[in-house]
Amino acid sequence: MVLGLLTIASIPTLVGTCEAVSEQKKQNAEAKRSEKFNLAAACDVSHRQVEEQVDGRFVVLRDGKLYLDHEPKGSDMKSGHPFCGYYFQYPGAEFEGLVSTISDDPPMLNWIYIDRDTRELKYGNRTQTLPHIAGPWDWTEDEKWLKLEDQEAFVVMEVEDGIWRVYYDKEGDWSGLPSEGKILDVQLQRKPLCGLESKHVRC
Ligand SMILES: *[C@@H]1O[C@H](CO)[C@@H](O)[C@H](O)[C@H]1NC(C)=O
Repeated sequence: MVLGLLTIASIPTLVGTCEAVSEQKKQNAEAKRSEKFNLAAACDVSHRQVEEQVDGRFVVLRDGKLYLDHEPKGSDMKSGHPFCGYYFQYPGAEFEGLVSTISDDPPMLNWIYIDRDTRELKYGNRTQTLPHIAGPWDWTEDEKWLKLEDQEAFVVMEVEDGIWRVYYDKEGDWSGLPSEGKILDVQLQRKPLCGLESKHVRC
């Protein structure tokens, strides 16, 4: 009888513990999704002529679009704001969006989205994202690389000499991309801000 009582009494405790553990896990997972990171391009290093302009370059925000942090020598182009973002529930949808700071002072956030017509990666407020592709954004299983619509289909295009803009290759065969310039397949690597390589970024 005593044993029976103990057993019954211990059931709610056990259930309670399990719930606490899974709640804790959920919170940890959510916390991880909201950790800030920078983004850097990685390309096939056999592209020798352009490797230096693309591989390892950070993604920056400039004039409404996303570029690699490379300016031709002597260019007076203003340098962009380094992408510094995290995953965030997109309002009114089932998926996660991606946000980035667009300025440090005052601190401001925008959504990262794909222009449906041009396939450019852009940033803007929610209204601006509405006719376009605002997610779902994700990471690869090892959490290192950025994914959109469950694929890692990003390219950079040389839109001016030495200036590389980031695009989404939705079909995976470069169709639907403008044919303005040289195109390179890239992966976009998440660089958590605790990493040494991103120390220079205030975020
Ligand atoms: C969103 O951005 C557009 C373009 O900059 C602007 O006209 C509009 O007022 C903004 N909307 C909101 C809700 O802030």
